[in-house]
This record gives sequence, structure tokens and C-alpha cells, in this order.
Amino acid sequence: MEEKLRTSVARPMETIQKCALLLWVLMFALARSENEIMTLRSTESVSPHCHGSISLSCNISSLDEPTIFLFAWYAPNGRALCELKNGNISTHNGVNCVYKDQQLVLTIGHTKPTHEGKYLCKLHSNVGAKQSYSQLNIQECLHSLHVHSHDGNSTCHARGVYPEAHIHWFQGSNNLTDSSVAHPRVRSEDGTYEIASTLLHRPHSTPNCSLWSPSSGRYLSSTRRHEKMAYAEEVTGSSKASSYGGAGTSMALLAAALILL
Ligand SMILES: *[C@@H]1O[C@H](CO)[C@@H](O)[C@H](O)[C@H]1NC(C)=O
Ligand SMILES: *[C@@H]1O[C@H](CO)[C@@H](O)[C@H](O)[C@H]1NC(C)=O
Ligand SMILES: *[C@@H]1O[C@H](CO)[C@@H](O)[C@H](O)[C@H]1NC(C)=O
Ligand SMILES: *[C@@H]1O[C@H](CO)[C@@H](O)[C@H](O)[C@H]1NC(C)=O
Ligand SMILES: *[C@@H]1O[C@H](CO)[C@@H](O)[C@H](O)[C@H]1NC(C)=O
Repeated sequence: MEEKLRTSVARPMETIQKCALLLWVLMFALARSENEIMTLRSTESVSPHCHGSISLSCNISSLDEPTIFLFAWYAPNGRALCELKNGNISTHNGVNCVYKDQQLVLTIGHTKPTHEGKYLCKLHSNVGAKQSYSQLNIQECLHSLHVHSHDGNSTCHARGVYPEAHIHWFQGSNNLTDSSVAHPRVRSEDGTYEIASTLLHRPHSTPNCSLWSPSSGRYLSSTRRHEKMAYAEEVTGSSKASSYGGAGTSMALLAAALILL
């Protein structure tokens, strides 16, 4: 008897709790759906090569096609790159932009380090305003690495480097970096660096210049002294021997063929 009474008291309490929970879930769902009548989604991130080309897309998804007041892409510095307004599209800074099927695609034809950053896609419509971000990071760049020697000093130049890197010198397995002098680094207009280093008084060696990237923790590239002269000398000096060698081997092959026959 006592137990029955307890359960009959407990049940209404439980029901009220359940109802409250249901109501809460319902309100939450309603708020959510209102929020998601329209969504805007842009490319999350891209990592193009230096001097590459990339496209960032920004897509509207909605049940009914909204009336667009403004649909635009902005550069990390806040400057508008392309804007769709009143059905007209305008582009700036040499980018390419296409609007089609509720999709605004921004294309950068020639990527460089100065393009890095967070791009903003913005939409103003009759259904509301939305925005979305895309991250652009440039991969490692290296345009050229050369060593020139002059009176016993070797100078290594690295051009079009990004991100920052350092020049290390080696002779075989000997690390000669401590006997070198790094030149002040120069930043180019495209955001890449020009770096150089001189290794002093090494007249009779062919040191190896290697480009160390602290950000990736590895050597990106390495090269020896410009060996055009040395190579030319070697060719003229040994041309007779090598032509003899060539004749010798073909004679040997002929002899071998004759023996086999
Ligand atoms: C945008 O839509 C196009 C075509 O449906 C798709 O290829 C692209 O991946 C979409 N982009 C995003 C960021 O969802
Ligand atoms: C769109 O641009 C064209 C030419 O650039 C111009 O003639 C037209 O008036 C513009 N339309 C609107 C709505 O701004
Ligand atoms: C080599 O470097 C030393 C030290 O900087 C300098 O005194 C010398 O003039 C350099 N030689 C040449 C040919 O540049
Ligand atoms: C070579 O020497 C430089 C300067 O001392 C140092 O930073 C670098 O780590 C060394 N590299 C190797 C491979 O030993
Ligand atoms: C130069 O030295 C580095 C480090 O020891 C080595 O990895 C690389 O193969 C060398 N390059 C040449 C061209 O000898």
C-alpha cells in the first residue's frame, strides 16, 4: 500500500521532468534550424607551391535561393578582392573570380609568400548575413642556389627563399659554417628572401653550400662551387685519354665478339 502511493507520487514528477526536457530539445532544434536556413562554407585551407595557382570556393547552401545583396572575398589585409553586387561582379588586384550556382570562386594565378593569411568570404542576403574563412599557406620556396669563387673566397647566393633559411658550408663531412660570414638578408617584393654567405680563404677546395630550413628542420638543397671551369679543363685535358679509352673498349668488344663466334 505504501509503495503504490510512493510510485503514484513519483510518476507525475517524472512526467513533468520529461516534458521540460522535450520542450528544451524542441526549442533548441527550432533555434538551430532557423540558424541553418542558409549556410556558407568556404575551402578550409590551401597550401600552394610558390608561384602556383589556387582556387578558394565559397558555397551557399539553402533551401530557397536567397537574394544576394553582397557576396565577396577579402584578402587577409581586409581589401576586397572580388565583390558581387547587384548582379555585377568586380575584381581587384589581378585575381580571377567567378560566380555560378550559389558559389563564388576566387582564383589566384600566381601565389607568393605575401599572399599568406586568412581570407574572408562574406555574404549579405535577404535571409541574413554569413561569413566564412579560408587559410592560405605557401609551401617552401627556393628559386636558385649558386656558389661563386673569387680569389679564394667562396660566396653562396640563395634567391627566392621562403620561409627564412640559413646557409651552411661543408667540406666532405667537415662543417665549415663557423668560418663563414652571413650577409644581411634582403626581402624581395614578393615576400621571398635573398640570402648569401661568404666562406673566406679556401682557395683549393670545393666547399658544399647547403640551405638549412629551420622551420622544416632539414637541408632544402645543396650545391658545390661553380665547376664550369674545372669541368672544361678536365674535358680538354682528358679528351685524348677518353677517346683512346673509347676506342679501346670497342676493340675489346670486337675481340670478345670474335672469340664468341
Ligand atoms: C562548393 O561546391 C562545389 C561544387 O558542388 C564543390 O566542388 C566544392 O568542394 C564546394 N566547396 C566547399 C568549400 O564546400
Ligand atoms: C553592371 O555593369 C555594367 C557594365 O560594367 C553596367 O552597364 C551596369 O549598369 C551594371 N549594373 C548594375 C546593376 O550596377
Ligand atoms: C676575401 O675576404 C676577405 C675578408 O673579408 C677580404 O679581405 C678579401 O678582400 C676577400 N677577397 C676577395 C677577392 O673578395
Ligand atoms: C654546421 O654548423 C652550424 C653552425 O655552427 C650549425 O648550426 C649546424 O647545425 C651544423 N650542421 C651540421 C649538419 O652539423
Ligand atoms: C653537401 O653536404 C650536405 C650535408 O653534409 C649533404 O647532405 C649533401 O649531399 C652535400 N651535397 C653535395 C652536392 O655534395
